[in-house]
Amino acid sequence: MAAKIISGTQIAKQIREELRAEVAEMKDKQGVIPGLVTILVGENPASISYVTAKQRIARDLAFHSFQDNQPADISEADLLALIEKYNHDPAFHGILIQLPLPKHIDEGKVIYAVNPAKDVDGFHPVNVGKMVVGEPCFLPCTPHGIMEMLIRSEVETSGAEAVIVGRSNIVGKPIANLLLQKREGGNATVTLCHTRTRDMAFHTKRADILIVAAGRPRVITADMVKDGVVVIDVGVNRIGKTPEGKAILCGDVDFDAIKEKASAITPVPGGVGPMTITMLMKNTVQAAKQISGLA
Ligand code: GUN
Repeated sequence: MAAKIISGTQIAKQIREELRAEVAEMKDKQGVIPGLVTILVGENPASISYVTAKQRIARDLAFHSFQDNQPADISEADLLALIEKYNHDPAFHGILIQLPLPKHIDEGKVIYAVNPAKDVDGFHPVNVGKMVVGEPCFLPCTPHGIMEMLIRSEVETSGAEAVIVGRSNIVGKPIANLLLQKREGGNATVTLCHTRTRDMAFHTKRADILIVAAGRPRVITADMVKDGVVVIDVGVNRIGKTPEGKAILCGDVDFDAIKEKASAITPVPGGVGPMTITMLMKNTVQAAKQISGLA
């Protein structure tokens, strides 16, 4: 059985059309324009391409948007002061600092410095804590996007064995929490695997839903999954370049082999990636509404 392809590109497009209508209504009725500032420190090529894509989509949705490029040697104090400036700037409802940051800057301090009301990345411990206890908050964009993909693709999570590979703060830990919650898209039995897991295949073979954010190309092979599994591949690995110089990407799962066993699977590219950026836009609209007293 060939798997259904869960297209993040298509679902993201649908959500962006919903957002476009919301943004137009906010502007017409209340004169509020969602504002997003993205801060890029240094010139990491992957970070440049992510931030450029975020800005392009923000502009496409008629946000007020600005990319603030800072040199790799900016001091930690100067970066914290810059964040504080945006915390008080009413034109921006969302602040995103692209990670990773240069080694001399403490990422934890940077994440803490963002006003939780403008934390559209959902990384501030205030938002993380609210997420864990199930209160309304900004959800981190990649797990938020995965939840939307599962819900909009009508994947049954209630009672399902959900196995996650990777325990990062950005993906693994939050998606585990969201799948556990007593609400739509939740109620799964969750297993979180990581680099010290003793027998990875033992766990992945039990999965009804397998979410892989391992950060290594094609580590999950067809012999590690059962028939009918739903696979969400969060990996984006650059494994070469085309003759034209374009990056060749692959995920963390062996897509070609697993699509013959799975009931549904996300591709790379065109899966989780477009959803992540779109959920950033959704969070920014939410921030604009809350800060402007519309929600
Ligand atoms: N680097 C990789 N993913 C992300 C993300 O979701 N947000 C930020 N700020 N940086 C990232």
